[in-house]
Amino acid sequence: MKGCELIEFEHHDDYEGGLVALEQGKEIPFDIKRVYYIYGTIKDAVRGKHAHKALKQMIVCLAGSCDFILDDGKTREEITLNRPQQGLYIEECIWREFTNFSPDCVIMVIASLPYDESDYIRNYDDFLKLANSGAYDKN
Ligand code: TYD
Repeated sequence: MKGCELIEFEHHDDYEGGLVALEQGKEIPFDIKRVYYIYGTIKDAVRGKHAHKALKQMIVCLAGSCDFILDDGKTREEITLNRPQQGLYIEECIWREFTNFSPDCVIMVIASLPYDESDYIRNYDDFLKLANSGAYDKN
């Protein structure tokens, strides 16, 4: 799906454990303005349920697993995140929902902008109108 990509990070694993490094301009294709993490989420919670007007994010499941539903206004895709060596890159104007959290799930989100409620599109019909308006068509 355009606007979303599952990225395999370079990882340095040996018998003692693993390490992943994420750098702005390298693994992270935007200036990093914010990092937040989500933990202790109940299994059946459905988080997200929004899109963003301008925000880009790299989402990493640091522990456990959870399922992402991604929607570009035309198609829906489901992706399971369950490895800290991969990241889900999401550009603007993609509707996302995430659910099916394992008890140990910790999700880190690296974001291109500070928190700004006015950047959220929380109504699905508004999202569909915007996504299909052509304003966010990607080459
Ligand atoms: P919300 O974006 O609704 O989380 P989710 O999409 O994962 O369900 O945010 C939950 C709460 O946290 C809400 O009160 C806003 C607050 N919040 C911040 O203060 N800063 C942030 O960077 C984020 C993402 C949320």
